[in-house]
Amino acid sequence: MGNFSGTLAFSLQPSAFSLQPVRSIQNLALVGFMGAGKSSAGRLAAELLQFEFVDTDELIEAQCGMSIEEIFKQQGEPAFRQLEQDVVRKLSQRQKTVIATGGGLIADPANLASLKTHALVVCLWATPETIWERVRTQTHRPLLQTADPLGKIRELFARRDPLYRQADVLINTGQRSPKEVAQQVLLQFQLAQK
Ligand code: S3P
Repeated sequence: MGNFSGTLAFSLQPSAFSLQPVRSIQNLALVGFMGAGKSSAGRLAAELLQFEFVDTDELIEAQCGMSIEEIFKQQGEPAFRQLEQDVVRKLSQRQKTVIATGGGLIADPANLASLKTHALVVCLWATPETIWERVRTQTHRPLLQTADPLGKIRELFARRDPLYRQADVLINTGQRSPKEVAQQVLLQFQLAQK
Protein backbone atom coordinates (compact mmCIF):
# COMPACT_ATOMS: atom_id res chain seq x y z
CA MET A 1 0.00 0.00 0.00
CA GLY A 2 1.16 3.54 -0.71
CA ASN A 3 1.52 6.02 2.10
CA PHE A 4 1.29 9.73 2.65
CA SER A 5 4.66 10.34 4.21
CA GLY A 6 6.40 10.21 0.86
CA THR A 7 8.25 7.04 1.82
CA LEU A 8 8.46 4.61 -1.03
CA ALA A 9 6.27 1.61 -0.48
CA PHE A 10 7.89 -0.90 -2.78
CA SER A 11 11.14 -2.73 -3.24
CA LEU A 12 13.32 -2.47 -6.31
CA GLN A 13 15.39 -5.48 -5.30
CA PRO A 14 14.17 -9.00 -4.61
CA SER A 15 14.65 -9.86 -0.94
CA ALA A 16 15.21 -13.25 0.65
CA PHE A 17 11.48 -13.25 1.48
CA SER A 18 10.09 -12.26 -1.87
CA LEU A 19 10.28 -13.61 -5.38
CA GLN A 20 9.24 -10.31 -6.96
CA PRO A 21 11.26 -9.50 -10.08
CA VAL A 22 13.48 -6.41 -10.05
CA ARG A 23 11.44 -3.52 -11.37
CA SER A 24 12.79 -1.41 -14.14
CA ILE A 25 11.57 2.14 -13.58
CA GLN A 26 11.73 3.83 -16.97
CA ASN A 27 8.69 6.06 -16.69
CA LEU A 28 6.54 7.94 -14.23
CA ALA A 29 2.79 7.27 -14.13
CA LEU A 30 0.33 9.53 -12.33
CA VAL A 31 -2.93 7.98 -11.19
CA GLY A 32 -5.76 9.33 -9.07
CA PHE A 33 -9.28 10.64 -9.13
CA MET A 34 -10.66 13.14 -11.68
CA GLY A 35 -9.49 16.61 -10.76
CA ALA A 36 -6.51 15.39 -8.73
CA GLY A 37 -4.21 17.46 -10.97
CA LYS A 38 -2.52 14.60 -12.84
CA SER A 39 -2.23 16.46 -16.15
CA SER A 40 -1.02 19.79 -14.78
CA ALA A 41 1.48 18.26 -12.34
CA GLY A 42 2.45 15.70 -14.96
CA ARG A 43 3.31 18.34 -17.56
CA LEU A 44 5.43 20.24 -15.02
CA ALA A 45 7.19 17.07 -13.85
CA ALA A 46 7.92 16.10 -17.47
CA GLU A 47 9.47 19.52 -18.06
CA LEU A 48 11.65 19.20 -14.96
CA LEU A 49 12.75 15.69 -15.91
CA GLN A 50 13.04 16.50 -19.61
CA PHE A 51 10.73 13.56 -20.29
CA GLU A 52 7.96 13.31 -22.85
CA PHE A 53 4.47 13.86 -21.47
CA VAL A 54 1.44 11.81 -22.49
CA ASP A 55 -2.11 11.71 -21.17
CA THR A 56 -4.08 8.49 -21.71
CA ASP A 57 -7.31 10.42 -22.40
CA GLU A 58 -5.53 12.46 -25.10
CA LEU A 59 -4.03 9.31 -26.65
CA ILE A 60 -7.49 7.75 -26.82
CA GLU A 61 -9.04 10.91 -28.27
CA ALA A 62 -6.32 11.10 -30.93
CA GLN A 63 -6.73 7.44 -31.80
CA CYS A 64 -10.54 7.68 -32.11
CA GLY A 65 -10.71 11.17 -33.58
CA MET A 66 -13.33 12.19 -31.02
CA SER A 67 -13.60 13.50 -27.49
CA ILE A 68 -13.99 11.30 -24.39
CA GLU A 69 -17.52 12.68 -24.07
CA GLU A 70 -18.37 11.56 -27.61
CA ILE A 71 -16.80 8.12 -27.04
CA PHE A 72 -18.97 7.65 -23.92
CA LYS A 73 -22.05 8.85 -25.79
CA GLN A 74 -21.56 6.87 -29.00
CA GLN A 75 -19.79 3.72 -27.78
CA GLY A 76 -20.49 3.56 -24.04
CA GLU A 77 -18.23 3.26 -21.00
CA PRO A 78 -17.23 -0.42 -21.54
CA ALA A 79 -15.81 0.49 -24.98
CA PHE A 80 -13.88 3.37 -23.41
CA ARG A 81 -12.44 1.02 -20.74
CA GLN A 82 -11.31 -1.34 -23.51
CA LEU A 83 -9.55 1.58 -25.24
CA GLU A 84 -7.83 2.40 -21.94
CA GLN A 85 -6.59 -1.18 -21.65
CA ASP A 86 -5.19 -1.06 -25.19
CA VAL A 87 -3.39 2.23 -24.50
CA VAL A 88 -1.92 0.92 -21.23
CA ARG A 89 -0.53 -2.12 -23.01
CA LYS A 90 1.24 0.09 -25.58
CA LEU A 91 2.73 2.34 -22.87
CA SER A 92 4.99 -0.47 -21.70
CA GLN A 93 7.17 0.17 -24.78
CA ARG A 94 7.95 3.71 -23.66
CA GLN A 95 10.95 5.21 -21.94
CA LYS A 96 11.49 8.60 -20.30
CA THR A 97 7.81 9.40 -20.33
CA VAL A 98 5.50 10.97 -17.76
CA ILE A 99 2.07 9.35 -18.15
CA ALA A 100 -1.06 11.03 -16.79
CA THR A 101 -3.89 8.50 -16.60
CA GLY A 102 -7.67 8.86 -16.62
CA GLY A 103 -9.19 8.67 -13.14
CA GLY A 104 -10.85 5.30 -13.72
CA LEU A 105 -7.95 3.59 -15.44
CA ILE A 106 -6.65 1.74 -12.41
CA ALA A 107 -10.14 0.52 -11.50
CA ASP A 108 -8.90 -2.41 -13.57
CA PRO A 109 -6.12 -3.93 -11.43
CA ALA A 110 -4.47 -5.35 -14.58
CA ASN A 111 -3.84 -1.76 -15.76
CA LEU A 112 -2.09 -0.87 -12.51
CA ALA A 113 -0.04 -4.08 -12.65
CA SER A 114 0.99 -3.26 -16.22
CA LEU A 115 2.04 0.31 -15.33
CA LYS A 116 4.10 -1.01 -12.42
CA THR A 117 6.22 -3.13 -14.75
CA HIS A 118 7.85 -0.02 -16.27
CA ALA A 119 6.84 3.05 -14.26
CA LEU A 120 6.91 4.45 -10.77
CA VAL A 121 3.19 4.79 -10.04
CA VAL A 122 2.37 7.91 -8.05
CA CYS A 123 -1.17 8.58 -6.89
CA LEU A 124 -2.26 12.19 -6.57
CA TRP A 125 -4.84 12.12 -3.82
CA ALA A 126 -7.48 14.56 -2.60
CA THR A 127 -10.71 14.25 -0.62
CA PRO A 128 -14.03 14.02 -2.52
CA GLU A 129 -14.92 17.52 -1.26
CA THR A 130 -11.65 19.03 -2.58
CA ILE A 131 -12.18 17.24 -5.87
CA TRP A 132 -15.70 18.64 -6.11
CA GLU A 133 -14.40 22.18 -5.54
CA ARG A 134 -11.93 21.69 -8.40
CA VAL A 135 -14.27 20.13 -10.95
CA ARG A 136 -17.63 21.77 -10.19
CA THR A 137 -17.33 24.37 -12.97
CA GLN A 138 -16.04 21.90 -15.58
CA THR A 139 -18.42 20.10 -17.91
CA HIS A 140 -16.31 17.66 -19.94
CA ARG A 141 -16.47 14.61 -17.65
CA PRO A 142 -19.31 12.28 -18.69
CA LEU A 143 -19.44 10.45 -15.36
CA LEU A 144 -20.18 13.71 -13.54
CA GLN A 145 -23.05 14.78 -15.80
CA THR A 146 -25.63 13.67 -13.26
CA ALA A 147 -28.16 15.36 -11.00
CA ASP A 148 -25.88 14.76 -7.99
CA PRO A 149 -22.23 15.02 -9.10
CA LEU A 150 -20.84 15.23 -5.55
CA GLY A 151 -22.77 12.08 -4.65
CA LYS A 152 -21.29 10.41 -7.74
CA ILE A 153 -17.79 11.52 -6.75
CA ARG A 154 -18.28 10.07 -3.26
CA GLU A 155 -19.61 6.80 -4.65
CA LEU A 156 -16.78 6.35 -7.18
CA PHE A 157 -14.20 7.48 -4.63
CA ALA A 158 -15.35 4.88 -2.06
CA ARG A 159 -15.01 2.17 -4.69
CA ARG A 160 -11.67 3.33 -6.11
CA ASP A 161 -9.78 4.59 -3.08
CA PRO A 162 -8.47 1.12 -2.07
CA LEU A 163 -7.11 0.78 -5.61
CA TYR A 164 -5.44 4.22 -5.64
CA ARG A 165 -3.72 3.17 -2.44
CA GLN A 166 -2.00 0.35 -4.35
CA ALA A 167 0.19 2.98 -6.03
CA ASP A 168 3.86 3.07 -5.07
CA VAL A 169 3.52 6.53 -3.54
CA LEU A 170 0.55 8.65 -2.45
CA ILE A 171 0.82 12.42 -2.52
CA ASN A 172 -1.88 14.46 -0.82
CA THR A 173 -2.54 17.35 -3.20
CA GLY A 174 -5.04 19.08 -0.90
CA GLN A 175 -2.89 21.99 0.26
CA ARG A 176 -0.36 21.94 -2.58
CA SER A 177 -0.11 23.96 -5.78
CA PRO A 178 0.49 22.05 -9.06
CA LYS A 179 4.12 23.20 -8.90
CA GLU A 180 4.56 21.85 -5.35
CA VAL A 181 2.91 18.58 -6.38
CA ALA A 182 5.25 18.30 -9.39
CA GLN A 183 8.26 18.89 -7.11
CA GLN A 184 7.08 16.14 -4.74
CA VAL A 185 6.54 13.80 -7.68
CA LEU A 186 10.02 14.55 -8.95
CA LEU A 187 11.54 13.91 -5.54
CA GLN A 188 9.83 10.53 -5.30
CA PHE A 189 10.98 9.62 -8.80
CA GLN A 190 14.57 10.55 -7.95
CA LEU A 191 14.40 8.45 -4.76
CA ALA A 192 13.17 5.48 -6.80
CA GLN A 193 16.22 5.71 -9.07
CA LYS A 194 18.61 5.25 -6.13
C1 S3P B 1 -12.73 9.15 -15.81
C2 S3P B 1 -11.80 10.17 -15.71
C3 S3P B 1 -11.47 11.05 -16.83
C4 S3P B 1 -11.72 10.34 -18.16
C5 S3P B 1 -13.10 9.81 -18.22
C6 S3P B 1 -13.42 8.83 -17.09
C7 S3P B 1 -13.04 8.34 -14.61
O1 S3P B 1 -10.10 11.46 -16.75
O2 S3P B 1 -10.80 9.29 -18.34
O3 S3P B 1 -13.99 10.91 -18.18
O4 S3P B 1 -13.61 7.24 -14.77
O5 S3P B 1 -12.68 8.75 -13.49
P1 S3P B 1 -9.55 12.56 -15.68
O6 S3P B 1 -9.22 11.81 -14.44
O7 S3P B 1 -8.33 13.10 -16.36
O8 S3P B 1 -10.62 13.56 -15.50
